[in-house]
Amino acid sequence: MDSAMGDGGKLQVGVLISGRGSNMVSIAEACAAEDFPAEVCVVISNNPKAAGLERAASMGIATAVVDHHDFDSKADFELQVQEVLEAHGTELVCLAGFMRVLSPEFCETYEGRLLNIHPALLPSFPGLNVQQAAIDYGVKFSGCTVHFVTAEVDAGPIVLQAVVPIEQDDTEDTLAARILEQEHVIYPEAVRLYGERRLELEGRRVLISAPRT
Ligand code: GRF
Repeated sequence: MDSAMGDGGKLQVGVLISGRGSNMVSIAEACAAEDFPAEVCVVISNNPKAAGLERAASMGIATAVVDHHDFDSKADFELQVQEVLEAHGTELVCLAGFMRVLSPEFCETYEGRLLNIHPALLPSFPGLNVQQAAIDYGVKFSGCTVHFVTAEVDAGPIVLQAVVPIEQDDTEDTLAARILEQEHVIYPEAVRLYGERRLELEGRRVLISAPRT
């Protein structure tokens, strides 16, 4: 067995959070199924007060705080994040509401092994406060996107997307809740596809192969 693999050869997933961590929980819950090809090896937060830290600990997952305020530079902060990820044998890194923009160097180190979830249908509405932006623009549908992370924010190859309608009386909160429900479906699904080695990059297209029989 590959030494980087955990018990049973499951893909080791490190999750980076900054807040409530509901996407992290959705991945961890999916991992609980025996036939799921991945397990969460560590949850790291840059925010010591992130609610997701307690949620992870209550699920028996190792947690770590790497507070960016404790470092003189982004490079030092990221080195510490990397050290914790490596100490836990991380093979795939999932950003789940992680509110720091990672450096090009970090993105390169983890190229092809770094996923993010974004609450809009990229390439529309990159950046922050995107549920309100979608309502204000007047689009009739929005959704969420799981993508590989590259140095350019919210611009990496798209793995999966889910579409949700925008209702006339939606507020930022009602739309965010409808989108979040779908985030919790497609993020674990993307991790499963990655764990089953069914994702292949062709240029900026992510091709998904059929399940192996
Ligand atoms: C989600 O909407 C995600 O798409 C965005 O940040 C939010 C994080 O929520 N990147 P949670 O911490 O996973 O609950």
